[in-house]
Amino acid sequence: MTFRATILTLYPEMFPGPLGVSLAGRALRDGRWACETVQIRDFATDRHRTVDDTPAGGGVGMVLRADIIAAAVDAVADERPVIAMTPRGAPLTQDRVRALAAGPGVTVLCGRFEGFDQRLFEARAIEEVSIGDYVLSGGEMGALVLLDACIRLLPGVMGAASSGDEESFESGLLEYPHYTRPVTWEGRTIPEVLRSGDHARIAAWRQAMAETDTRLRRPDLWERHEGARVKPPSGAR
Ligand code: ADE
Repeated sequence: MTFRATILTLYPEMFPGPLGVSLAGRALRDGRWACETVQIRDFATDRHRTVDDTPAGGGVGMVLRADIIAAAVDAVADERPVIAMTPRGAPLTQDRVRALAAGPGVTVLCGRFEGFDQRLFEARAIEEVSIGDYVLSGGEMGALVLLDACIRLLPGVMGAASSGDEESFESGLLEYPHYTRPVTWEGRTIPEVLRSGDHARIAAWRQAMAETDTRLRRPDLWERHEGARVKPPSGAR
């Protein structure tokens, strides 16, 4: 099955962009995913091809018009979820990425300027997603991030390199640290346990490192992880 990505944007030339090389690029050429862009401006109704207007209530910048964007969304509407990239959206998580990658694809709406008329999201059941607590100049980079995260999970994309549930976030923890040769570099030596050949000890060390690093670096993730651990098993009431 091909994962279909449709990107609604004022800058279609930004796609597939970096997703045309490396892993995602090969997957694209192999037909594991498809990348289609729609120029939002094609849905403008005036001869200047206007897509935005001044914000109601005043203020700086311009706001993308709900009627124009809705026409673009309606033109590509199908069973796939529609996600708008905005800094006000729900933070993108590996759980959301996994759910998207398991489906038929996604339609991604990229904003510019101050953003979209909010009525659009209510009227079309569009989900707002953010890739982090910083402001980009447009949603396109966010869309590339979202798609990259999905594409690497598609069947056959990662091949043997797929480390599946050992990866950061799959377990709810950061991944343990990695090392490779040379054994000693600038006076720093690979932890002895990793050279011991004792697989049980190695697994225990990796688990302990994942837990320690998550606790120290990402107390927010650690709290959630610990909260989930003490919950009764699902089904128990
Ligand atoms: N558009 C502007 N900033 C963004 C962000 N942080 N995430 C997603 N889309 C955006």
